[in-house]
Amino acid sequence: MSSESDSLRHPVFYSASEQQQLRDFLAYHFKPETSFFVLTDSNTHRDCFPLLQQMIENPLKVIEVPAGEKFKNLDTCHSIWKILTEKMADRHSLLINLGGGVVCDMGGFAASVYKRGIRFLHIPTSLMAMADAAIGGKTGVDLDELKNIIGCFSQPMGVFIDPVFLETLPPRQINNGFAEMLKHGLIAESDFFDRLTSIGPEEITEDHIRISVEIKSGIIIKDPFEKNIRKMLNFGHTIGHALESYSLKNDKDPLLHGEAVMAGMLTEVILSWKQGLLPDDEMDYIIREMDPFFPDYGITDECLDGVMHYLPHDKKNREEVPYFTLLKETGKSVLNQQCDIDNIRESLEEARGILNKSDH
Ligand SMILES: NC(=O)c1ccc[n+]([C@@H]2O[C@H](COP(=O)([O-])OP(=O)(O)OC[C@H]3O[C@@H](n4cnc5c(N)ncnc54)[C@H](O)[C@@H]3O)[C@@H](O)[C@H]2O)c1
Repeated sequence: MSSESDSLRHPVFYSASEQQQLRDFLAYHFKPETSFFVLTDSNTHRDCFPLLQQMIENPLKVIEVPAGEKFKNLDTCHSIWKILTEKMADRHSLLINLGGGVVCDMGGFAASVYKRGIRFLHIPTSLMAMADAAIGGKTGVDLDELKNIIGCFSQPMGVFIDPVFLETLPPRQINNGFAEMLKHGLIAESDFFDRLTSIGPEEITEDHIRISVEIKSGIIIKDPFEKNIRKMLNFGHTIGHALESYSLKNDKDPLLHGEAVMAGMLTEVILSWKQGLLPDDEMDYIIREMDPFFPDYGITDECLDGVMHYLPHDKKNREEVPYFTLLKETGKSVLNQQCDIDNIRESLEEARGILNKSDH
């Protein structure tokens, strides 16, 4: 089955590998002599590129970058731009981003500024990228450990989703993407949250991915540049990004983005309650349902100080004051909440008691 979502500025195609969609799309939009570049990381080159080659006939020039968040930076963009110039990419060329959120975010950014912008499309290969990162036109890279500080809003020509790519994705990465799907339920659709927590990450299908995409795109279409309601999608990310920055800088095996967001959502659920927005029974319900999916991560005192240190760098801040998206019930969020600093710290302290599972 295939369909094109009409609720987005960019189309989303499903079951892409079984269909002619990509082939037809390229034939419709590009002249036969166009140069097609494919950005992969080392894993998606090995595991996903062979399938892409079966999906399109055109000759493809591969640009491979090392895998992982620590390579989502301007140095890697520099190497992408160098290869594009060496291989004579011009303004009519296309960049196909074949990978997880890192490849999609970075490839989208690299394409958007190369020769003042060439066209790009996403073929997301991780659950995180299918359900979230490839959708909505946020592109960018990190500055040292500070998340997504350099970037721009820029829409892909299209997003081609196929869960067949998930067959080679490690289970930890499936859990990672599941976190953002839970977030979509928590901020906008309580039924979806209940459905997801009742099945868990292993049973995710294309239908669930499609619901996530629809929730996210339904928000973005109303506010593509995050002036107001798009901020809903930042739930869990104010603490999550600060924790991810700390972990990227200090841990040998850093938290994945979705793991940091899970811990961030837990903290921000507690914070929502402390700020008097979320009733006791709702908080208890959400934490109980999410509990099986929390990462086992020990928040040390140093980590807690680290998170408080990174908070003023959040992109949503005004004059260094952190602003949060919080919850008032399952499926309903509230924007622009300025929070008491003691409440933030205490929420983190309470969250660490729940997260540190090996202590239980
Ligand atoms: N732009 C947005 O709106 C948005 C939203 C959410 C997350 N993000 C960003 O997305 C990034 C996280 O994305 P991610 O979790 O996909 O990370 P990732 O891109 O690093 O992918 C995770 C790992 O899985 C591997 N991989 C991906 N697909 C594979 C496959 N099919 N088979 C085998 N291995 C595969 C990758 O090589 C990598 O090692 C973060 O940088 C985050 O900031 C952006």
